[in-house]
Amino acid sequence: MIREGTTKRLILRPLELANAVEIQALFPRWEIVQFLLNRVPWPYPPDGALHYCRDIALPQAERGEAWHWTIRLRSEPSHMIGFISLVKGEEDNRGFWLDAPWQGRGLMSEACAWTNDFWLETLGFPLLRVAKAIANTASRRISEKQGMRVVAVREKDYVSGRLPSEVWEITADEWRARKARDPHRS
Ligand SMILES: CC(C)(COP(=O)(O)OP(=O)(O)OC[C@H]1O[C@@H](n2cnc3c(N)ncnc32)[C@H](O)[C@@H]1OP(=O)(O)O)[C@@H](O)C(=O)NCCC(=O)NCCS
Repeated sequence: MIREGTTKRLILRPLELANAVEIQALFPRWEIVQFLLNRVPWPYPPDGALHYCRDIALPQAERGEAWHWTIRLRSEPSHMIGFISLVKGEEDNRGFWLDAPWQGRGLMSEACAWTNDFWLETLGFPLLRVAKAIANTASRRISEKQGMRVVAVREKDYVSGRLPSEVWEITADEWRARKARDPHRS
């Protein structure tokens, strides 16, 4: 069983197969996919979300290799507005996206603060690493704000083509020290 998360404004609800319908409606937008790895099919097929949930994400979660949540506002919990995942692996442990009308309000920073805690404290991994295209300014800013640092630069294949990419990391000790200094910051 994956735990539900709550933050000041959000509910992070563990992914279920039924969420594929909403994901299919929200996810296939160029603004969302352009800086995702090119394993995301594009153009996105009509059964893309069903395939992702049923054949990739839920089996990963079942095997204990990944944790996936739909993101909802506490004020409107029946409506999904985004998605966030944690995945075991060497250099890309977190992925996320948010429906465009909800971007730019600090919501993903809030979701990431909760998932960072889940990864580094609840699951007890010593290190969180995330990879992102350098051109993905909003995503880079979240890592920067949350005290992560760049540890590698290389090219990766995104939906929009081959682009320079960075790997960011933070250790559990660094995350704890940051929270101790400023417990209310996301
Ligand atoms: C990345 C994403 C989830 C950010 O969500 P969000 O809720 O808007 O993020 P937040 O508001 O918490 O933080 C974004 C930060 O980037 C900044 N930012 C956003 N766009 C920016 C831009 N074009 N230039 C400079 N800064 C920018 C915001 O001002 C904010 O920083 P601040 O708090 O210092 O003001 C959203 O843009 C998205 O879904 N993108 C498409 C999917 C994607 O790329 N996912 C990540 C793959 S690595």
